[in-house]
Amino acid sequence: MALTDSTSMKLPIENPGAEDFLPLLGTDHVELYVGNAKQAAHYYMSAWGFQPLAYAGLETGLKDRVSYVLQQDKIRLVLTAPLKPGGGLNRHIDRHGDGVKVIALWVDDARKSYEETVKRGARSYFEPKTLKDEHGEVVLSGIHTYGETVHVFVERGKYSGPFMPGYRAWDPHYQPTSTGLKYIDHMVGNVGWNEMNTWVDFYARVMGFAQLVSFDDKDISTEYTALMSKVMSNGNGRIKFPINEPAEGRKKSQIEEYIDFYNGAGVQHLALATDNIIQTVGALRDRGVDFLTVPPAYYEDVLDRVGEIDEDLAPLRDLGILIDRDDEGYLLQIFTKPILDRPTLFVEIIQRKGAKSFGKGNFKALFEAIEREQASRGTL
Ligand SMILES: [Fe+2]
Repeated sequence: MALTDSTSMKLPIENPGAEDFLPLLGTDHVELYVGNAKQAAHYYMSAWGFQPLAYAGLETGLKDRVSYVLQQDKIRLVLTAPLKPGGGLNRHIDRHGDGVKVIALWVDDARKSYEETVKRGARSYFEPKTLKDEHGEVVLSGIHTYGETVHVFVERGKYSGPFMPGYRAWDPHYQPTSTGLKYIDHMVGNVGWNEMNTWVDFYARVMGFAQLVSFDDKDISTEYTALMSKVMSNGNGRIKFPINEPAEGRKKSQIEEYIDFYNGAGVQHLALATDNIIQTVGALRDRGVDFLTVPPAYYEDVLDRVGEIDEDLAPLRDLGILIDRDDEGYLLQIFTKPILDRPTLFVEIIQRKGAKSFGKGNFKALFEAIEREQASRGTL
């Protein structure tokens, strides 16, 4: 399904506690501010199987920045880098390193989305504006969320171009094959000490989201470290934002390490969905993506915990894929090591087989794996 196909589609209510003054059709795109967008684009193409979609830069009339737009099925990434010193883009990269700046949400009405959220207390990032070219028009507006991260509302019902006005199609010789990534399942924000409920309240009050699930430090702790998490979701369930904060432990948690290196709150991981995690993770690994590993002992009793699954255990064990079950089914998941120089952003690959949860049964094994990586960085 093309991203622009279904603006008038009736969406089922998945999360009845959520309010619908802000109908969200899905994630439009995720924009990262990076030091070198050309080379970052090559990494997401060669390693992750994203395909080239659109470009904006000096050749399209921009003077101070360049953006590459990549797509794989419904996932769109925008990679933006500065061309001149100074300004907000350079300051963002200096402070945070490469990282997610924009979580753009696909809406029917960007003006109303702005008005409804600002009325409920959102801080404006920019007021509604209409961009036009020969392919039609796109309306954008933006609000701030945690840290320096922002949400941009994208209304593209009257647009047929490759991405949006200001961009031209980008069709280089290099057209990497997909790795089977389909859509963004959820996007996780790390916030500082005692800030989780502030941002949970923001998504409830300002965006009309409802809380799906909550984990405290008893759920998410090891001998050494702990964190707390609440998952916020919109009415149709297409947008899920878990929010993490650190909890007291004997050593420094991964959330504190993130906050230290990102210099504040920001996006911790993108969870990308696949229909065949064994193929996807095999391809990603062959193409150079590094994943966290769990001890072989994890697989000795995992089937006692999760019951029968469709897949053979051997390839899951060989690739280090984790398994968890809830009342509605099971899920398969795996996490990369940080994909940037700083130990900040990472990616989760997830295949849902009925389960709607987030892998609670894997938290302990996962966090112990992260602690081993932290120890090697001297940041535990
Ligand atoms: Fe996740």
